[in-house]
This record gives sequence, C-alpha cells and structure tokens, in this order.
Amino acid sequence: DKEPVIVLVTGAAGQIGYALVPMIARGLMLGPDQPVILHMLDIEPAAEALEGVKMELIDAAFPLLKGVVATTDVVEACMNVNIAVMVGGFPRKEGMERKDVMSKNVAIYKAQASALEQHAAADCKVLVVANPANTNALILKEFAPSIPEKNITCLTRLDHNRALGQISERLNVPVSEVKNVIVWGNHSSTQYPDANHATIITSNGDKSVRELVADDNWLKTEFQSIVQQRGAAIIKARKLSSALSAASAICDHMRDWVHGTSTGTWVSMGVCSDGSYGIEPGLIYSFPVSCQNGKWSIVQGLKIDEFSRAKMDATAKELIEEKSTAYTCLELEK
Ligand code: NAI
Repeated sequence: DKEPVIVLVTGAAGQIGYALVPMIARGLMLGPDQPVILHMLDIEPAAEALEGVKMELIDAAFPLLKGVVATTDVVEACMNVNIAVMVGGFPRKEGMERKDVMSKNVAIYKAQASALEQHAAADCKVLVVANPANTNALILKEFAPSIPEKNITCLTRLDHNRALGQISERLNVPVSEVKNVIVWGNHSSTQYPDANHATIITSNGDKSVRELVADDNWLKTEFQSIVQQRGAAIIKARKLSSALSAASAICDHMRDWVHGTSTGTWVSMGVCSDGSYGIEPGLIYSFPVSCQNGKWSIVQGLKIDEFSRAKMDATAKELIEEKSTAYTCLELEK
C-alpha cells in the first residue's frame, strides 16, 4: 500500500474548501489509489464550522482518507505536509479598496510562508488560490526562501478551463476535444486568454481553433471579456463566487503537476517567471506549462503576435504594480 500524502487546505471552512475536501478524499486530485491525510486550517471564528466539515468527512467514509486534522493552529496544520493548497484569505467586503484587501492578505501569506518553510515536507508543492493569487504566491515565495521557487505556484487553471469551455460552446464540440488554450499573466481582469495556439482534436488530427472559429474578432473581443468576467457573472447568478469550478480546477492543477500532462498538451499555471517571453524574472505569472516527473516547465517557442504582446505586457505591468503595493503594505504593517 502507498504511504498517505498529507494535503493541507487552508480556509477549509469556506466555500471552496467545502467543495474541495471531498474531491481530494475521493482521489480526484492525486489518483484513485493514493491514500491521503487532510490537514484543514481555518481561523478561530470559523473553528466550529471547520469541525462540522471534519464530521462530514468522517460520515462520508471515504476509503482513501486515512486521517483528518481540523485546526486553527498554523504550525499543526503545516506539519509535514506534502501538498499545500492555500485557499484561506480575507474576502473583499463592500466598500473595501483593493489595497485594503491586498494588505490583509499579503500579511497572512507572509506569516504562512514562515510556517510552511519551517514545518512542511522538504519537497512540498504549494498552490495559492486566495486572491490576489499571483501576488500572495509571490509574497509566499519571497518569505519562504528555503522552499524551491519551482514549488510555489498560483491557480489560473480555472481561467484556463473557462477558456476551454467557451471554445467548446462556440464550436459545439465536447470540451475534452479542445486543448492548448493559454491564460497569460495575472488571475485578474487583465489576464490574457489566448486561443491562437489552441486546437480541436479530430479523427483527422488536430485542427486550429483560430481557423475553425473563423472570426478573429470574436477571439479578440467577446471571448476575452467572457473569460475575464466569468467570475463576476457567476457571482451575479449565484450570489456567491465560483466554488465547484474552482475546487475542480485546483484538483486539475495538482493532478497534472504531480502526474504530468499528456504529450502535446499544455495547461496554464501561475509560476515564477524565468524571463521566458520577456516577462520580468521573479514575477508569478501564468504561462503555458507542460509537466513531467512532478516538475513543470514553460512551453517555449510559441509565436507571439503584436496583439498578444501588448496584452501580455499589460498584465505583467499590473503584476509589477501589485508587487510594489504588496511591499508598501508590508512596510506599513511593521
Ligand atoms: P470564503 O470566504 O468562503 O472562504 C475563505 C476561508 O478562509 C474562510 O473560511 C475564512 O475563515 C478563511 N480564512 C481567513 N483568513 C484565514 C487565515 N489567516 N488562515 C486560514 N484561513 C483563513 O472564500 P472562498 O469562496 O472559499 O474563496 C477563497 C479564496 O479563493 C478567495 O480569496 C477568493 O477570491 C479566491 N478564489 C480564487 C480563484 C482562483 O482562480 N485563483 C477562484 C475562486 C476564488
């Protein structure tokens, strides 16, 4: 029997947490033969709700679930974890400036960086979900220098999956036959969903989405805005933000990172830039990546046209600004 993998979920009493933990316990993240132990962290006001989630996990009698820790103690939560899914964060409330939300969250991520650095397993893989996801991941990376930077990522897979979904709807093909869209940059409204290299899998080989859509204007306008604004559309319809699709994307992200992407297929992940495609090194930026042997690498050599270049630079510029705001917030904290 395989050794259980310890998976930390922070903010586990929240909406995404509630959708995510049963998926992990069913093997949707790490596979149907991989036992797991769940560590769930939340804060004191949510402690009772968190205990309720633990009770439900016990009641679900998941065969793969070998243990559950529900705690408000960050050290206990981080102890020996192999995978850390960071969903916990301070939500944006009415009347709050983006900067106020940023300030609360970067302080949380700075503190949790130290806990992970000291107590997680040496090869721990980290996925930051809580917003501002890229900048929280950047702060985590910078305040946990002993965690290899390749092990720190942020979630843009939901945006990637949304882009696949929109192309599937537009071309009326099953989503499983669409591949290789790209979400570049920030998990925010400046993200650049790019279908220029996307293909549809057919019995006669792969066909270019750009040619099949035959309407470049749609790809440059509506497709962009639908994907960028999808989060807001879900809130409007559900009066709550995306949770099941976010949880599913989290499982996709980790599964592909751990088990690899199939040949000729890439996915989008927020990772530390090495300067590829002219993006400032050190930023956590969403790139097309392929994964093998538990490691991601940025897909190289894609042709970037002028339209794409401008969009990719605009979202990088926003990330540079967020980074500087984050550091200003941390200075003020002192
Ligand atoms: P939620 O508000 O329902 O849950 C957040 C949970 O985090 C709450 O239970 C809260 O008590 C907890 N929390 C707050 N501070 C904490 C701390 N210091 N340590 C541990 N837990 C803490 O929010 P929801 O809907 O589950 O979303 C979670 C985050 O994910 C939000 O920041 C949201 O913006 C972000 N998000 C990101 C997506 C992405 O694609 N990157 C997609 C959807 C949501």
